[in-house]
Amino acid sequence: MTKTKSNTEIEYRLTINGVARSFVSDPFKRLANVLRDDFGLTGTKIGCDAGDCGACTVLMDGRQVCSCMIPAAQTDGIHIQTVEGLVDGKTSLSALQHSFLHHGAAQCGICTPGMLMAASALLNVNPKPDRTAIEENLAGVLCRCTGYRKIVDAISNAHQFETEVELKTEGMAVGSRMIRVDGLEKVSGSDLFGADDAPDDALWIRVIRSPHERAEFKLGDLNALKTKYLGLIEILTYKDVPGFNGFGIYPHIKDQPVFAVEKIRYRGEALLALVGERKTIENIQYNELPITWQILEPIKGTVCALSTGAADIHSNVPGNILTEGRLKKGDVESSFSRAAVISEGEIQTSCVEHAYIEPEAGFARRVGNRIEITACTQAPAMDQEECANILGIKPEDVRIIPTACGGGFGGKLDVSVQPIIAIAAWKLRKPVRIIYSRIESMSSSTKRHPAHARAKAAADANGKLVAIDMKVDFDTGAYASWGPTVADRVPVHGSGPYAVPNVLMHTRAILTNAPPSGAFRGFGIPQAAMLQEQLYDDLAIQLDIAPLLFRLMNALRRDEATATGQVLQHSTGLAECLEALQPYWKELRAKAERHNATNKTDIRHGVGNACMWYGCGNTSMSNPSTIRVSLDQAGRLTLYNGAVDIGQGSYTVMLQICADALGLPPTEFNLIHGDTDLTPNAGKTSASRQTLVSGKAAYLAGRNLRAKILRLVNAAEDSELSLNKHVISVYEEGRETKLDLSTLPILDVLKNVLVGEGTYDPPSTPLDENGQGNPYATYAFAAQIAALEVDVKLGTLHLHRIVAAHDLGKAINPTLVEGQIQGGIAQGIGLALTEEYIPGRTENLHDYLIPTVGDVPDIDVIIIEDPEPEGPYGAKGIGEPALVPTAPAIFNAVRHATGVRVTHAPLLPHRLKAALDRAGYER
Ligand code: FES
Repeated sequence: MTKTKSNTEIEYRLTINGVARSFVSDPFKRLANVLRDDFGLTGTKIGCDAGDCGACTVLMDGRQVCSCMIPAAQTDGIHIQTVEGLVDGKTSLSALQHSFLHHGAAQCGICTPGMLMAASALLNVNPKPDRTAIEENLAGVLCRCTGYRKIVDAISNAHQFETEVELKTEGMAVGSRMIRVDGLEKVSGSDLFGADDAPDDALWIRVIRSPHERAEFKLGDLNALKTKYLGLIEILTYKDVPGFNGFGIYPHIKDQPVFAVEKIRYRGEALLALVGERKTIENIQYNELPITWQILEPIKGTVCALSTGAADIHSNVPGNILTEGRLKKGDVESSFSRAAVISEGEIQTSCVEHAYIEPEAGFARRVGNRIEITACTQAPAMDQEECANILGIKPEDVRIIPTACGGGFGGKLDVSVQPIIAIAAWKLRKPVRIIYSRIESMSSSTKRHPAHARAKAAADANGKLVAIDMKVDFDTGAYASWGPTVADRVPVHGSGPYAVPNVLMHTRAILTNAPPSGAFRGFGIPQAAMLQEQLYDDLAIQLDIAPLLFRLMNALRRDEATATGQVLQHSTGLAECLEALQPYWKELRAKAERHNATNKTDIRHGVGNACMWYGCGNTSMSNPSTIRVSLDQAGRLTLYNGAVDIGQGSYTVMLQICADALGLPPTEFNLIHGDTDLTPNAGKTSASRQTLVSGKAAYLAGRNLRAKILRLVNAAEDSELSLNKHVISVYEEGRETKLDLSTLPILDVLKNVLVGEGTYDPPSTPLDENGQGNPYATYAFAAQIAALEVDVKLGTLHLHRIVAAHDLGKAINPTLVEGQIQGGIAQGIGLALTEEYIPGRTENLHDYLIPTVGDVPDIDVIIIEDPEPEGPYGAKGIGEPALVPTAPAIFNAVRHATGVRVTHAPLLPHRLKAALDRAGYER
């Protein structure tokens, strides 16, 4: 029943999670917003507001729907179930939620409520669904983190999980499949992401962005607009920036303005911000804004940017070459002249969007002469420095409080909402909040660098690599962001994880009018590997050596030198990865070749292999982390961990490491995460550094506290500890000694009596002018196999299976490791086959195609543990390595199936069809 309250607002009555509720709204308000705004049910997430991502999935009269697509007008009398209502009455969580926890099916967790609701709809009618039914059911819900495999497993096994899944309490935490410490919040929908919380009196911000790629503009009378709209409190421009109107990763390149100053360099750039009452600022029409445009011809692509007479994107970078990277080892030219076989080629890769399901969001408030910023981020300490510089205040007067982060992958390393909400809250002395729309998120954020790579590689008659010469031009877009990092990192890795005696690398980061290219899982290495791995396959084929064997013959091994001359003295498990793949390779290749020999259809099967290596941490730069652990007088044990968890599991991994180092179980710990006022600086979550660097710091912190405890009771190193309220018992050779914490002197305001701290900075050395040196403390290695089929008539491709062997030193938590590998592979599939960001055309999750559950095949994960002495318990990184080999393995499988070499990624059907036609498949 409905009742008219005014001309535009109506009262609707419905049932939510079994309780009769009502709300008053205009008929067009979306159900997702009703649930969140009117009833505080923020477990229902909004990822796109367009029915594309499924994050807002709820059950409407038992049917799964995208609640962002349901207008209030359709809600009268209906029954809605959200994630908050997903309990079975016997335990606090449903069996499905327990199964998600057990399988590690939630990583960042932003898609999890939608996944759970979609799965519930299925399980309600089919308690033991098969995989096909599950995949059909989940087709409308996107996950960017997991690669879907663990989600599918969790749903198919849900019927087995009647009891609660608990944190592990016995034995070593390291190496166990302990459930993630933030898992309960993620599966219950109570995790708070950037859009989920803000002070009630917060003003809203809407950023006005450029629809043009290159333009000059003038602002007219802004006060007239403020006079017209009472709910419009302020209009912010560059003139309102109290400190420096610029940000950027490098201290000497703060080239991106918070608000553009009369010049636009990419579509999506911010020029002003409306601050005020939500409805008012949302309803102001773009053409009401007093902006006069002079639209200019954009500089598109690196060729255009380097052409004679091209305008300079920035006046201080004449010629548009922002930075260059070089590496020279041996004598490439003379090696080519002596080689038995040579392969040469090029590839063009596309602009790729991170497509995290959580658009950027957060709030800020001024507290006296300090600012507090609560937002999603990968790098709280960097945000702190940037915002201090922008506000013109000291870093310690900026407090960054990270929310749960709904995916990052490098895209939330650069500041996004932080400077804008900081400026508004600082100026207005009122709390302010912002939530980017999907289109705003995609148009304004950084991307993977499009790359044009050319290379020539050679091997001798014995199948040994002798040389590679590679040149890569990266389109770094309108601003520097992480462009210099990409240009520096690629020369180190461009020859692949092989012993190549002669290497020549030259990279350039080139400014254009594209969105800024930044950090994205791999920092340019995936682009280079897409060409290098194809050339090495070609050399193997020319020599009539199986490509996997060729890689094994050339794999970097212990005590061998890399392209930078670094001698690998420990953990170098590539050969073990390849050996582990051998049986799969033989079986899958034989099967594919049998198919191709006996089936004269348009369907050709192929199996490809590719490898990767990845230096963990910053390139030849200090990147320390500090972790702290404390005991207070009451016996409260607290881990202060600033290593932000963006879904990969660093909150869990740091706890596992610290718990074992200290010698007390993980369940004894209280956890404080990320807050820059409370946690020491653990650096950014990027470059696959957290497990290695922050993990080692967590280890050292645990050992430090343990040593202090043992010293106080004069006990031996191998003593065992237990904690009972304020008493620590130390057991040594059957004897128990008690340490009463309440009797110890208090050290700080938190009433801590014992504090352990660990700082670790991985050793590296600078690279010389030829790129020679020791840029990383250690490297992760991997090899993957892709098996697929190609329809040579249609140009379509279907993946059958991926097998991935990864050397990560030590799997601190195998469930999390598998999740990282599967998720990275899913992103690698998108990179290879579907993802292409085109400003103005693919700025949403409908036209920008990330893999769905049906696009990710079976993935076999093989964990290789070649312990790294630098790492905690031997561990290295896994975040980025998972993605790098997937695309080249797929491309090599296409070559095996069809003979076609890939020269343009993504390999969309029209590109594959054209290549097949050129190769003579046309009929
Ligand atoms: Fe699915 Fe992050 S866990 S999007």
